[in-house]
Amino acid sequence: MNVLVIGSGGREHALAWKIAQSPLLNKLYIAPGNSGTEEHGENVSLDTNNFPLVVDFLREKNVKMLVVGPEDPLVMGINDYVRMQPDLKDIKVVGPNSEAAQLEGSKEFAKEFMAQNNIPTAKYASFSIEDLEQGKIFLDSMEAPYVLKADGLAAGKGVVILDDLEEAKAELESMLGGKFGMASEKVVIEEFLSGIELSVFVLTDGTHYHMLPNAKDYKRIGEGDTGLNTGGMGAISPVPFADESFMKKVLDRIVEPTINGFSAYGLHYEGFVFFGLINVDGNPYVIEYNVRLGDPESEVIIPRIKTDLLALMAKMGTPQFESAKVEFDPRAATTVMLVSGGYPEGYKKGLEISGLDMVEGSIVFHAGAKNSDDGIVTTGGRVMAVTSMDSEWKNALIMSYVNAAMIQFEDMDFRKDIGFDL
Ligand code: AMP
Ligand code: GLY
Repeated sequence: MNVLVIGSGGREHALAWKIAQSPLLNKLYIAPGNSGTEEHGENVSLDTNNFPLVVDFLREKNVKMLVVGPEDPLVMGINDYVRMQPDLKDIKVVGPNSEAAQLEGSKEFAKEFMAQNNIPTAKYASFSIEDLEQGKIFLDSMEAPYVLKADGLAAGKGVVILDDLEEAKAELESMLGGKFGMASEKVVIEEFLSGIELSVFVLTDGTHYHMLPNAKDYKRIGEGDTGLNTGGMGAISPVPFADESFMKKVLDRIVEPTINGFSAYGLHYEGFVFFGLINVDGNPYVIEYNVRLGDPESEVIIPRIKTDLLALMAKMGTPQFESAKVEFDPRAATTVMLVSGGYPEGYKKGLEISGLDMVEGSIVFHAGAKNSDDGIVTTGGRVMAVTSMDSEWKNALIMSYVNAAMIQFEDMDFRKDIGFDL
């Protein structure tokens, strides 16, 4: 089978690494990919937001599976566009259609879906510019801290949490006034939930699902979970506090009602569901849905999946999907993200990376890195994720740190405290 993976991060390197291990694979393409994905397939420069070009590529290369890494093409309707082509009906698109992708693309849609399906989440109300005054009155009725969320995709920056009521009102006005462009035409205000977050993943064909390993990521740039939000600075799988009884609550209260909700809502969903959860006194609540895998969560969950993931994805929508067995490696996995100095604000690009050949006992998943005439150079803020596995997550973490220290580029930075809170 020929496969095209869309994306260029550590998540896509991990997907490419895994897919390349499948005996079902004939040829793997990654658009645009990075220096890591190039070890497992052919990187192609294809404008993946230009869907006519994507379908031309699928035809030309006889691709039978399209795996969409990031959310944007899904929200923009790449699944719908491919499935509209009469001659491409047999292509498996891993990632939901645009309507189902609203679970990530619209906070209001996701909140309504959860309300309809009795899925535990923070209490909320949604406002647009016409009801700014009601929004302020609603804030008066809430307790600090105030959680304001731009309805649409805002590159991970659309959530603002404030302690001061007057600041929250001003922020609401600014968001509804266009602070995040179209994304904040509507704003969801919700109750603040206090607890520890975790990420739970399933692969579903819309009716049946398989649990994948869970993970905890570290989103803030600074040690002790301080400073600006990032795409993720490291991750651990499995999550030590997500024991059997907690995961049973996650299944019964969240995963099953979500999958059942797809049919009830008429949502076409084949792909990964990423449940962003928070553990409030032993009870799980949904903070957000994502319609894709996480990054850097992929760099710890994919290495723990023993089953042939390509074969499993190919079975979606057939009776073999339900009966498939998904096996996990019982060892823990940890990853430490190496970032460019200044990230998540301004940072340099094109920095030469050395020391990769010194790494022993870890897998280095490349993110913002590419091959060039000068060897591998940085192209982004999050540059590489150093993943290790061991029966004790603390030993895996030590291995990740030992190998992180082997890799060098100008102003390289990483968090030294991944797992500190566990
Ligand atoms: P989101 O983009 O929805 O993942 O939100 C970004 C981050 O804001 C989450 O990872 C949480 O840390 C935090 N957050 C979002 N909603 C809430 C909430 N209702 N209560 C507490 N923290 C929240
Ligand atoms: N690491 C969080 C995300 O992928 O959204």
